[in-house]
This record gives sequence, structure tokens and C-alpha cells, in this order.
Amino acid sequence: MNTEIEKVTGDVTIDAAVLQKAGRILKNGGLVAFPTETVYGVGGDALQAESSKKVYAAKGRPSDNPLIVLVAEMQSVENITRNLPKEAYQLAEAFWPGPLTMVLKKNDRVPYETTGGQNTVAVRMPGHPVTLALIRAGGGYVTGPSANSSGRPSPTEASHVYEDLSGKVDLILDGGSVELGMESTIIDLTGNVPTILRPGCISQKMIAEVIGEVKTKSEVDTVDHEEDTNVPGMKYKHYAPNADLLIVEGNPAAVIKKIDQCAQADEHAGKKVGIIATEETAAQYQHGYVVCIGARSEEAVIARNLYSVLRDFDALEVDRIYSESFYTPQMGEAIMNRLLKAAGHHVIKV
Ligand code: TXA
Ligand code: MG
Repeated sequence: MNTEIEKVTGDVTIDAAVLQKAGRILKNGGLVAFPTETVYGVGGDALQAESSKKVYAAKGRPSDNPLIVLVAEMQSVENITRNLPKEAYQLAEAFWPGPLTMVLKKNDRVPYETTGGQNTVAVRMPGHPVTLALIRAGGGYVTGPSANSSGRPSPTEASHVYEDLSGKVDLILDGGSVELGMESTIIDLTGNVPTILRPGCISQKMIAEVIGEVKTKSEVDTVDHEEDTNVPGMKYKHYAPNADLLIVEGNPAAVIKKIDQCAQADEHAGKKVGIIATEETAAQYQHGYVVCIGARSEEAVIARNLYSVLRDFDALEVDRIYSESFYTPQMGEAIMNRLLKAAGHHVIKV
């Protein structure tokens, strides 16, 4: 398949012709990759089983790991779910359009091919004008998994999507670099207590202020996630860089010293070493290939750069990566959730 690329400006009047074309592709059962405010997504018409099968194939994703459905109006959520709880309206009012995905009970309009066989459907109204216009042009329901091949970091710019999905989708809408760089917060509203399945920019505290009690998955259970059917994504291996990734935690001076010593030893052993550092620390390393992820004081920048830094290290073919940790006030939980998964929870405490 020949993958076309079209630039979009974010001004939907200027982008109208391209969006009409993308909408036609979706209605005809094709696939389009597109920018959102979180990461790039790839989708087809979520109500056509055949389109969802194509999304799984393009990503190389196991067919029981459900796709999320992107919508542009609250009415669309009502159209594809049943027993919508009041919390869904409250959260939509507070955070949509935006980086929050709600797991709800699905009705018959949503094919099991879209939900990976689940009776629930994850729904999000994205906060990006191009995505909203695309959803409307495509019939109202567009699948929205991240537009990476399964097992790679989520794409934060169109070139990442092209690397992974060229030849596998009909069209890529290039809207430049994304705003947030971290996937949406996912909250499950189908159980007794609302539960956060994946942390993101919208924190537990922000959600609790709107709906009261909310748990995180780790508070509900810490048992073997392999057995967990409620969080299908957790069954699968997450992005892991080609290199070993080790996170070093502790007092900043000790962290720098430890990483530098390890990098020196590895280099002596003939290894190529990468270091994920911050603006405050980058100049203090003597060894390794140092990449600055941003300033500690600007956590949004760290979140936005994380996936592209990991992609860059894959391209550089380093053997080992050392990373500082980033437990920043608002987004630290989401950032460290991604980084710890990429590191296989391999942490050195100093
Ligand atoms: O920010 C985002 O959410 C991006 C943008 C493109 O919208 N999309 C995204 O999709 O991150 P994906 O597929 O890469 O991650 C969605 C996660 C998966 O781990 C999936 O298992 C989980 O949501 N999920 C989807 N439907 C679910 C359901 N019915 N119940 C529980 N988890 C679900
Ligand atoms: Mg993903």
C-alpha cells in the first residue's frame, strides 16, 4: 500500500479538503493516522469490524488488546454504551475534550473486533481540532490506539508514524509535534469504585476533585497482571528499548556520580552508552552519549520528549542507557510509569 502524507495546520477551515479526503478513507474502511494532543493515533471506523481488524494488523497488535474509540460529541458516547454512570458526565464536563479515556459498558453497535472481545469500550474525546474534525468527517467513531507498531514508543511526530506504519495505512496527517507527548489517563467506570488503569496528565487528585473516591489499579490489586483481564494492555510487553535501560534514583549528586562511573566502566568494556539527563545535570557527565530531556522545572517538557529520546537511542544503537528518575510534582507519576515499564522496573538506588 502506498501511504500518503498530508500536512495539516490545525485550522480546520484551511485543512477542510484534506479532512474531507481523510473522512472518505475512513468511511470506505481505510486507515488514517492523525495527530492528537497526547500522541499520534491510527484509526479506522470503530463501528466496522473489518476496519478494526486492519488496525490490529497495521500495528502488529494482539487482537485481544482492545482499541479505544474516539468521539467528538457526548451524544456519540450515549449511542455506543449502556448504563452510562453519572461520573461519566461529570468527568466529560470537567476534562473533555482532553487527555482522559473512560472505560464504559458497550452496546451492540460496537463490534467485538474493536474491543478485543471485551463487553466494555474505552472512549475519549480528544482535545485537538484536527482530530475532532476528522472524527466528524469519518462518521463519528474512530479507533484511536497510538500510531506505533506494537512494542515501540508512542509517536510524538509524524516521522515516527512513518517509520512504523509506512505502507500499512492509507494516509498520515502531519500536524507537527504533539502538545503533551504522553498517552491519556484511563479510568474504568464499570466497577464499584472508579479506577485509574493508566496514569496520565489528568491526575488522580484532579479526578477525585470531580467525582470523589477514585482508586488506582495498584491500590485495587497488586496481583499478577498476567491474569488480569480488566486491563488488557497490561498483559503485553510494553515498549522496551533495544538497549538495557537502567534507572538510577537517589540524591542528585550521587545519581550523577553513579551513572558516570557505570558509563565509564561500560565504555571500557567496549559498550556504547546513552544517558538521559536534564538541563541541570547534562554538563556534569564525563562519559556516555548524553541526551538532555528538558529542565526539571518544566515537567511538561520532560513528558513531551520522553518517547522521542527513547526512539533516538534505538536509532543510535546504544548497548545500555542510564536514566535519571523524574518524580516531578504533577506528571511524575505518568512519566515514571512509562519509564519504569521501558526499563522492566530495573532501578539502581544510590
Ligand atoms: O492518548 C491516548 O489514549 C492515545 C491517543 C492516540 O488517543 N491512544 C492510546 O491508545 O494510547 P493505546 O491503544 O495505545 O492505549 C490504550 C490502552 C491499551 O493499553 C488498551 O489495552 C486499553 O487502553 N484499553 C482499551 N480498551 C479497553 C477496555 N475496554 N478496557 C480496559 N482497557 C482498555
Ligand atoms: Mg499504545
